[in-house]
Amino acid sequence: MDFYGRDFLKILDFSESELRYMLVVAKKLKEMKRKGQSHKFFPNKNIAILFEKTSTRTRCSFEVAGYDLGMGVTYLDSTGSQMGHKESIADTARVLSRFYDGIEYRGFDQKIVEDLAKYADVPVWNGLTDECHPTQVLADFMTMEEHLGNLKGLTLAFVGDVRNNVANSLMAMSAKMGVNFIACGPEELRPKDDLVAQCREIAEKNGCTITVTSDLSALDNTADAIYADVWLSMGENKEKWGERIEQLKPYQVNMELMNRAKPGAVFLHALPSFHDLNTSVAREVNEKFGLTEMEVTNEVFESEHSIVFDEAENRMHTIKAIMFLTLYERREK
Ligand code: CP
Ligand code: NVA
Repeated sequence: MDFYGRDFLKILDFSESELRYMLVVAKKLKEMKRKGQSHKFFPNKNIAILFEKTSTRTRCSFEVAGYDLGMGVTYLDSTGSQMGHKESIADTARVLSRFYDGIEYRGFDQKIVEDLAKYADVPVWNGLTDECHPTQVLADFMTMEEHLGNLKGLTLAFVGDVRNNVANSLMAMSAKMGVNFIACGPEELRPKDDLVAQCREIAEKNGCTITVTSDLSALDNTADAIYADVWLSMGENKEKWGERIEQLKPYQVNMELMNRAKPGAVFLHALPSFHDLNTSVAREVNEKFGLTEMEVTNEVFESEHSIVFDEAENRMHTIKAIMFLTLYERREK
């Protein structure tokens, strides 16, 4: 397996053994961090992290992971740099490649990060686009493995907006890792047919299934893990809240829905989450539409099923593993 110099743009670009190896390395790095063992492997390297959408976990993960690996880290967004409005992605990529050893990008179209990778001479890591969130799902699978053991044959059900970036990446990761995946959401929000077909082909080889359904009974005593994400993703038109709430209300992850899953099932969420009224967005939605909780109830979020903070922590360890593997040049003896 050779990761050196490669980009990390989407899950489908990697084989099952490569993805498994990323998780092995993440586990090792987590252990080193827990034991307080220094792992500043790259004292002479620097990375740039570009954010055209906001972030807490992904930004902090890249920053802390970068510092732990001994690297310098520069954060840029579209308001404080020329990126996007005064300078093309192609030119930005070529300039940053002269300064930095790796570039993270979070933004809109997947094509932008693909272009960035095309023009950059250094590894480019996808920190979320409209279509995928590949670093997220590595952390999700690491966390599921920690809580549920061997992943092969388990069933993961994503409930809600099943065509969003997180759902797309979970479907690809499940197919690759031999995990049965259920995308459970309304007819109007179906994942793209070509993605489903591609994932089904991979899943068949790996002895697992990909199910797309609007029927919640598909979760009954089958799901080992239930996954929720926001009903309206970053970059989507806020005018859509009303329509989205109508479509997704039946798919709110509440205790009744959670109890459909296998006993002991875990609850995952990429975060941030609207499980109470402690955010300005949730209060705005509450004023307009009367909801006090959205994609997950506070009861489930705070319950023993919920492993969302372990999941958030693992963002850092998995992102560190990706950076380590793509920056580390093995020298043959
Ligand atoms: N889950 C996730 O990507 O969180 P942030 O938007 O805070 O980075
Ligand atoms: N689907 C969400 C994920 C956030 C981490 C969004 O794109 O806003």
